[in-house]
Amino acid sequence: MQLSTKHLLGIKELEPADISLILQTAAQFKEVLQRPIKKVPSLRDITIVNLFYENSTRTRISFELAEKRLSADTINFSASGSSVSKGETLLDTVNNILSMKVDMVVMRHSASGAPHFLAKHLPNTGIINAGDGINEHPTQALLDAFSIMEKTGGLEGKKVVLIGDIMHSRVALSNIYLLKKMGAEVMVAGPPTLIPKHIREALGVEVSYNVGEALRWCDVANVLRIQLERQNQVLFSSLREYNLAFGISRRLLDSIKKDIVIMHPGPINRGVEIDSDVADGRESIILQQVENGVAVRMAVLYLLAGKKSEAS
Ligand code: CP
Repeated sequence: MQLSTKHLLGIKELEPADISLILQTAAQFKEVLQRPIKKVPSLRDITIVNLFYENSTRTRISFELAEKRLSADTINFSASGSSVSKGETLLDTVNNILSMKVDMVVMRHSASGAPHFLAKHLPNTGIINAGDGINEHPTQALLDAFSIMEKTGGLEGKKVVLIGDIMHSRVALSNIYLLKKMGAEVMVAGPPTLIPKHIREALGVEVSYNVGEALRWCDVANVLRIQLERQNQVLFSSLREYNLAFGISRRLLDSIKKDIVIMHPGPINRGVEIDSDVADGRESIILQQVENGVAVRMAVLYLLAGKKSEAS
């Protein structure tokens, strides 16, 4: 089986069959990653550039590790320290890199739509969105889905709440698209100032401004980072007030009296959107999400390189 697309720009563009194929292929690669030799020769004919115009820890390392586990040749590019500071455009930068015979581009950029722009101008190069502005972060949603399936057995009918800064979160949008396509029920919860006004009608999600109510409703809570760097106005009174009203504390979680899976895409603002004894607690699968990211990104790279999956 093969994907219906040459690029991974967003979950919005994927068919449910594409998502299933990526998740099934990721399960096969997760098995590879348990072996003493965690490497396969699948992409030894492929060169990939990781083009990061915005900071990253998890996504950048995870893609690089996935590429190395697949035996691809990799080049890492950070905008800082490059000729971007001399005024070189995104397209010129990428065209120069591609002239050195690069096959695929993994790109993170602070501008929403930057990977779509590249895909339009470079239709024959596989472009993978590693997070674009406040638009999408598709591989994060895929690894979140993989982690939910691993922990709970499936996505169909699961109740998943995304809590916090929905307004500025590309993780929220990609998760909503993916979970709805795969038959899960989705709620967003947080302060009214951080939830887009017409999200219920636009995306078919439930909305709650009460985190306790949202936790009582859900099977899985994906807690999102407050993205201060993307907020150009004051949207809540203080981080302390935010923590008291919308943060996930041990006391709040224990008061719910049901088993909930706790997730966070990272990086965590400890003591703001989530307290340490929850982030590190028994309900948390935060580090399993990071571990699963490598297998999921291996699956994405492998399938976009045109390799056929054994998964049916
Ligand atoms: N989850 C995530 O995208 O983390 P990084 O910004 O560290 O890549």
